[in-house]
Amino acid sequence: MKKDTITITVYCADSPSELEAVDAALLQAATQAMQHAYAPYSHFRVGAAALLDNGETVCGNNQENAAYPSGLCAERVALFYAGARFPGVPVRAIAISAGLDGHENAEPVYPCGSCRQVLRECEMRSGKPIRIIMGSAQKVCIVNGIEALLPLSFTG
Ligand code: THU
Repeated sequence: MKKDTITITVYCADSPSELEAVDAALLQAATQAMQHAYAPYSHFRVGAAALLDNGETVCGNNQENAAYPSGLCAERVALFYAGARFPGVPVRAIAISAGLDGHENAEPVYPCGSCRQVLRECEMRSGKPIRIIMGSAQKVCIVNGIEALLPLSFTG
């Protein structure tokens, strides 16, 4: 059997101040959205901001529920809202920010498997990679497309 190795490219910065202006603005929008998360059960607030091809920025945050699985992650709230509000408009980039109530995480939060799968389908629909900016006050990681976070994925 032959061994294949998959490598991913991740760009890392020590602070949001090192980012290009457009990325920094999107991360700031995600951090603002995080503050309005509804997370009374986990107290872990997540914000996401999606930049669309038409220049609009659509934000989301995690929305929890007493029946835990009924809640939804910030990334999917933002992506589904973007699809509902601006159908067919490609998502160019998404920024994600997170922290426990009142605090910003030291480490970036990386999207969960279900959100990665939804990002995959968003890319498939538009045919364009989505830049994913995963940020915190002390570290920012960026990948240029979901392939880096979800290789060998199911595409139906
Ligand atoms: N969460 C997100 O919003 N995005 C992720 O990528 C991971 C987890 C939320 C779900 C839940 O409300 C809380 O974080 C704790 O898991």
